Amino acid sequence: MDTIKRTEIKNLFTGQAKEKVNQPVCVKGWVRTKRGNKAVAFIALNDGSTINNIQVVADVEKFGEDLLKRISTGASLRVNGTLVESMGKGQSVEIQASEIEIYGQADVSTYPLQKKGHTMEFLRDIAHLRPRTNTFGAVLRVRHNMAFAIHKYFNDHGFFYWHSPIITASDCEGAGEMFQVTTLDLDNLPKNEAGKTDYSKDFFGESTFMTVSGQLEGELGATSLGKIYTFGPTFRAENSNTPRHLAEFWHVEPEMAFYDINDNMDLAEDFIKYLVRYALENCKDDIDFLCKMYDNTLVERLNFVISHDFKRLTYTEAISILEESKHKFDVPVSWGIDLQSEHERYLVEHHFKCPVILTDYPKEIKSFYMKQNDDGKTVRGMDILFPQIGEIIGGSEREADFDKLLTRMKELNMNLEPYQWYLDTRRFGTVPHSGFGLGFERLLMFVTGMTNIRDVIPFPRYPKNAKF
Ligand code: 4AD
Ligand code: MG
Repeated sequence: MDTIKRTEIKNLFTGQAKEKVNQPVCVKGWVRTKRGNKAVAFIALNDGSTINNIQVVADVEKFGEDLLKRISTGASLRVNGTLVESMGKGQSVEIQASEIEIYGQADVSTYPLQKKGHTMEFLRDIAHLRPRTNTFGAVLRVRHNMAFAIHKYFNDHGFFYWHSPIITASDCEGAGEMFQVTTLDLDNLPKNEAGKTDYSKDFFGESTFMTVSGQLEGELGATSLGKIYTFGPTFRAENSNTPRHLAEFWHVEPEMAFYDINDNMDLAEDFIKYLVRYALENCKDDIDFLCKMYDNTLVERLNFVISHDFKRLTYTEAISILEESKHKFDVPVSWGIDLQSEHERYLVEHHFKCPVILTDYPKEIKSFYMKQNDDGKTVRGMDILFPQIGEIIGGSEREADFDKLLTRMKELNMNLEPYQWYLDTRRFGTVPHSGFGLGFERLLMFVTGMTNIRDVIPFPRYPKNAKF
């Protein structure tokens, strides 16, 4: 019997599974639960292919108590048997076991996932094992599907996947939140005449960092291939211990030649709606599970987003609304402030009750590369704000004029040396162009309903945590 080809458990719950009923099957997976009585044991087996477990029915007399005792939550098994229609509630088919092989036991007294109902905090401390829970299985399958949908969307729309470097000498966002990359001996740094670290002795001959964004290199792609997107990890050494920040997050950054800010907003809105629709259509079992277990308005929220226009307004208009609201914010509102999550959520959740796109921010709170408006005060940036999440996308039309860009960089006292290659985009054949960055984990928070960003990535990186 052990020569039967293995069936992945998800294939036992599809329409075609009917053909397998009363036929021999072989499944392999991990035990989620075992219960039963003196005569028969019921083993719920999961192999990660689906949220659904297959119930294995094992005759105690046939297999003997000794073998069944070694089968506990977390143990890994091969089961051969006959697929039969289930008489019990809650499952369509089950397996009458004829042969059970235990690959590995999981000690009842030490396996951390022995019991159900652990808190998310507890699971974060065993991040290496939590993918074996229903919740993380569901979240991580959605994560895969969203990554796939991102590539599909861009490929179907004529974008090219562009690989920006991870190690860079430039700081795209200019916030100085970069992790340094060096092979110098930190206990014995070479010094130059001024007594400073001599980076000419470092691996790259200059100081280098992990990138915070692939945008600057992406602009080279857009101004040659037309439309590109990056999708890779980016790194921020900001010490923000919040449920919305990671030190290592996956960043999706499309960049398009000949797009103005309106084209940029249209693309971003269409893109997000496509992804949410894709999740609803392709991750139904997992999303229904998350909806049932954590947040019963999840499906409703997802449907709302795909069926409503995002509200578009300027930063200045948003400030007026916040000022007139008379709401008491921790950070008081006035023109020029960098909007905090509390302000963003007020606009989205209380005022408009729909996703919002804010544009035309004060130049002081945005990066050097954004297109300057004629008023001399604002730049053509856009942020997309979502319920529960706050900022999910940040982008802009880019300053295409060489002189204006250079003047702004000088105003900000930027060291121009690491940006000469970037300025070549404006020196030679400059064009209007735009782009944005979507935080992949912020998207996943929205789609899965998870309220902490650390719970939508297998191995989260945040201050004082790089353990797993
Ligand atoms: O708004 P940000 O900083 O914009 C940029 O990096 C631009 N270079 C993007 C571009 O125009 N190509 O970041 C973009 C998005 C944010 O809206 C947010 O979703 C996400 O990246 N993000 C983070 N996600 C998780 N953890 C963090 N620490 C994040 N910082 C930004
Ligand atoms: Mg931003």
